Amino acid sequence: MAALSRIEIICDMSKFSVLKKTLSENHVGGMTFTQVLGCGVEKGTKEYEVDENYEMELLPKIQVSIVVPSERVRSLTDIIEKALYTGHIGDGKIFVYDVTNVIRVRTGDEGEQAL
Ligand SMILES: Nc1ncnc2c1ncn2[C@@H]1O[C@H](COP(=O)(O)OP(=O)(O)OP(=O)(O)O)[C@@H](O)[C@H]1O
Ligand SMILES: [Mg+2]
Repeated sequence: MAALSRIEIICDMSKFSVLKKTLSENHVGGMTFTQVLGCGVEKGTKEYEVDENYEMELLPKIQVSIVVPSERVRSLTDIIEKALYTGHIGDGKIFVYDVTNVIRVRTGDEGEQAL
C-alpha cells in the first residue's frame, strides 16, 4: 500500500481563501478546516524578543488538514509555503505526519484509493 501523509497548516484566518484556492488548484482530494487558538515562538506578540516570563497569548488561527500520497508532500509543501509567505512574524507553520490508513466508508476503499 502506498504511503500516506497528513499535511497540517496553521496560519492566520486572512490566508484562508488563498490557501483553499491553492489546494483546490492542486487537486487535493479533501480537506478539513478547524478554527483554533495558538501561538508560536513570539508567544502571541509581534516582537522578536519576548520576555521569558511573559505568559503566552493565544490568537485565533486556522488549521487546515489534508491527507495525500506521501510522494506529493514535498511539492505541496513548497506550493503552500509560497502561497503563505510574507516574511513577517506569524506567517504560519506546516506540520507533516505519517498516516497509517484511510478507509472510505461508502465504498470500503482503503489507502490511496480512499483519498
Ligand atoms: N511548536 C509548535 N507546536 C504546536 N503548534 C505550533 C508550534 N509553533 C507554532 N504552532 C502553531 O502554528 C501557529 C503559527 O505559528 P507561527 O507562524 O507564529 O510560528 P513561529 O514559529 O512563531 O514563526 P514566526 O517567527 O514566523 O512567527 C501558532 O499560532 C500555533 O498555533
Ligand atoms: Mg510566531
